[in-house]
Amino acid sequence: MIKIGHRGAAGYEPENTLISIKKALELKVDIIELDVYCCQSGELVLFHDPTLERTTNGKGYLIRKSYAELQQLDAGKGERIPTLESALKLINRKAKVNIELKGRRTLHPVLHMIEKYVHYYGWQYDDFLISSFKRSKLKKIRKLKSKIPIGALLLYRSLGFLKFSQKIKTYAIHVNYKIVNSKLINDAHKKGIKVFVWTVNDLQEITYFKKLGVDGIFSDYPDRIGE
Ligand code: G3P
Ligand code: MG
Repeated sequence: MIKIGHRGAAGYEPENTLISIKKALELKVDIIELDVYCCQSGELVLFHDPTLERTTNGKGYLIRKSYAELQQLDAGKGERIPTLESALKLINRKAKVNIELKGRRTLHPVLHMIEKYVHYYGWQYDDFLISSFKRSKLKKIRKLKSKIPIGALLLYRSLGFLKFSQKIKTYAIHVNYKIVNSKLINDAHKKGIKVFVWTVNDLQEITYFKKLGVDGIFSDYPDRIGE
C-alpha cells in the first residue's frame, strides 16, 4: 500500500509546515502531499486555504500577501509558512512529493521548480506528482511536460473523468473517499491508472479501503496505513 502523508503528517503537527514534513519522513511515508500557493511577491509557499485565518494568526487572502508579510505569521507551534523550496530541501528525495496546485499563478513556477530540481539537484521526474482539481491545469501540464507524473483529483463523481485521465496519461487518480467504489477502482486499473483515496484517518476505514483494492491512501496519520 502506498502511504501518503497528508499535508505532511497533519494529524500530528501543524499542516503544511516543515515539522509536519519531518514527522511524515519519520513515519516513512512513500509520498508527502503538500498544498502549494504562489504568494503576492511570487514565492511558492505551502498552504491549504485561500485565507489565513484557520491555520495562522493572520487575516485575509494569502495571495494578497508578500512572502515577507507571511513570514511574520505563526502557522502553528511557532512554525513559519514554508516555501516549497525549503520543503524540497528537507525532503531531499527521502519521499516523493505530491504538489497539489492551489490558486492562480502556481502552475508555471511549480514546473520551473521541478525542472530545476531535476536538472541541477539530481532529482527524477518520478520523485514528483503534481495534482489539481482543475482539468485545464492538468491538460496544460501534460502538454508542456510529458514526463512529470500527474494525479487527477476528484471531489465528486464526474462523467468522463477516467477517459480524461487516460487521455492525459495520469499516473493516478486522487479520489475523495466518499465516492470510491470497486467499479471505479477496476475501471481505473483496466486503464493502467492507480487509485489513491483521500483523506482516511480512521483505522477501520483504512482496512476497508485496503480490502477494496486502492493503491494508496492519503492520511493525516500515515503510520496508521501499515503495509
Ligand atoms: O490531495 C488530496 C487532498 O488534499 C485534496 O483536497 O482540499 O485537502 O487539498 P484538499
Ligand atoms: Mg491537498
